[in-house]
Amino acid sequence: MDEAEIAAAMAAVDQERQWSRLEAFGRLGAIAGNGVNRACLTPLDREARRLLIRWAEEAGAVASIDKANNLWLRRPGQNDTLAPVLTGSHMDTQPAGGRFDGMYGVLAGLELLSALADTKTVTQRPIEVVAWTNEEGSRFAPGCMGSMAWSGARAIESFAAITDHNGIRFDDALAEQMAAESDLPLRPLGYVPHAYVEAHIEQGPLLEAEGVEIGIVTGIQGSRWFNVIIKGESAHAGTTPLALRRDAMQGMVQAVTALNRLTEDPDDVLRFTVGRVSVLPNSSNSVASEVRFSIDLRHPDAAVLTARGDAVRPTILSAIRHVEAEVEESFTAAPAAFATDVISTIETVAESAGFSHLRLASGAFHDAQFVVPICPTGMIFIPSHKGISHNPAEYSSPEQLTAGTRVLVGTMLRLSSS
Ligand code: HGY
Ligand code: MN
Ligand code: MN
Repeated sequence: MDEAEIAAAMAAVDQERQWSRLEAFGRLGAIAGNGVNRACLTPLDREARRLLIRWAEEAGAVASIDKANNLWLRRPGQNDTLAPVLTGSHMDTQPAGGRFDGMYGVLAGLELLSALADTKTVTQRPIEVVAWTNEEGSRFAPGCMGSMAWSGARAIESFAAITDHNGIRFDDALAEQMAAESDLPLRPLGYVPHAYVEAHIEQGPLLEAEGVEIGIVTGIQGSRWFNVIIKGESAHAGTTPLALRRDAMQGMVQAVTALNRLTEDPDDVLRFTVGRVSVLPNSSNSVASEVRFSIDLRHPDAAVLTARGDAVRPTILSAIRHVEAEVEESFTAAPAAFATDVISTIETVAESAGFSHLRLASGAFHDAQFVVPICPTGMIFIPSHKGISHNPAEYSSPEQLTAGTRVLVGTMLRLSSS
């Protein structure tokens, strides 16, 4: 494909169309402050997927799903037997999420399909856009279930018994969505794309602080998630002496205090978060009998993540008093480095299109982390206002979305003829 064809397709990215589509998806699960709460495998999720399918079909793509409910949009290539070039991201959001996290990458893929249709561009390789199932891990933990199942990192069946806050099992929610989408062709799980490029918001402050339009992502730090259950005994808050209590809430405090010491880092690189807590019986005048809490640990260096992560369980067990603890690791994503030739392709496209750019690593995990072992993989970031994300105030401008999508189009077209 010659440079003129690539430039024409990049120029065909329509800012108005992309932004109005973003606003349409933002209305599906809208919450105060311009945010979105659209969990995976819900009626809202199904409504958003149908909207995506409609627009993709208008652009000449064909939709299918796999047994992990990943949604695939395929545009045939001149030689349709060649491995496709793949892009995409996720459509599920955090409970107090923004309109851009994940959704931008799916929209950029959709805009790619529309721009190629508008310019009647014929690509050597097929182009595919994917919407991964449950990247966020907020309804059903852990995240990246769709991409882990697709890449073979975890079997989809291994998530079956995981429940959401209402006690609904993952396999039941998945079966309900698969049945609702039974009109869509079913494709096998997994294949080897020629390359995968995901567009995403940075979710950090760097690009905006540097006044740079495009982030060329070099890799993603590692993440380890743990579920902790502290078991004590319910008792009367007024009559039970402190010395006789088996207080699960105090147990959690002892555990987290010790974990804060374990994760101290003068360079502030290590990330330690307790984001979710549930208490039984959850009454102000009953001593807690059980506390469940989450641990999200991250670091770019595999050795540090191993050392601190492996110390989580022993640290908790030695810190608690008069209660028991169960500690289970629920998610392990090793630090991932992206492919040098994908990184340089993105850089060449950004440079030749006149976009300012810099290389950076991702603090957030992404489905791309699980595609790295399968094929050459890379990511394109656009700025996040004040680095805000996982928050309704998350924002990137129409111009920033357009710049990122133009670089994605140029990158995908170069890769589709390699
Ligand atoms: O948690 C993450 O890093 C991603 O945004 N889900
Ligand atoms: Mn995301
Ligand atoms: Mn996210």
